[in-house]
Amino acid sequence: MKKLEEYVRCIPDFPEEGVMFRDVTSVLQDADGLHLAIDTMQELVKDLDFDIVVGPESRGFIFGTPIAYNNHKPFVLIRKKGKLPCETVSMEYELEYGTAVIEIHKDAILPGQKILIVDDLIATGGTTEAMIRLVESLGGEVVGVVVLMELAGLKGREKLKGYRLESAICYEGK
Ligand code: PRP
Ligand code: MG
Repeated sequence: MKKLEEYVRCIPDFPEEGVMFRDVTSVLQDADGLHLAIDTMQELVKDLDFDIVVGPESRGFIFGTPIAYNNHKPFVLIRKKGKLPCETVSMEYELEYGTAVIEIHKDAILPGQKILIVDDLIATGGTTEAMIRLVESLGGEVVGVVVLMELAGLKGREKLKGYRLESAICYEGK
């Protein structure tokens, strides 16, 4: 049986010179890869008690929804600016070049609810940090973050001190 990391296609110099791109599509395109990815992420958080799974557009939706489904919990979407139709709260965060804004519906989380955040990747940690701030601005309690892949060289984990972060695959580099 193949290991999870064997399903991740690694593309050198994409999107720019010197970057090793870890491609999630090769995991998803393989039925065994998809099963193994979800099952491994699920296993990492099996001891956690949570009320809601939260995941960001777009790749966070792919992994967040099946974990919510497995645990019979709701899934709450964090979307890029301007996509959610009802009242939202927003958070700006840093990208490599410039900034971005993500949003969540105000009524999606009630104060005191326990939140599991799911995404495909933690790189700089900027997206995850912004998601935590959004959830906490609504009174939610982030009990854990689980990602498929962590690029440890970008030190995203350091932004999340005090929070539990689980990654199914941890790459040493960037
Ligand atoms: C990518 C990835 C994570 C985030 C990680 O999303 O899916 O959500 O970047 O990077 P960070 O830790 O440095 O914040 P992206 O914003 O490229 O959008 P996508 O999911 O829609 O592809
Ligand atoms: Mg993303």
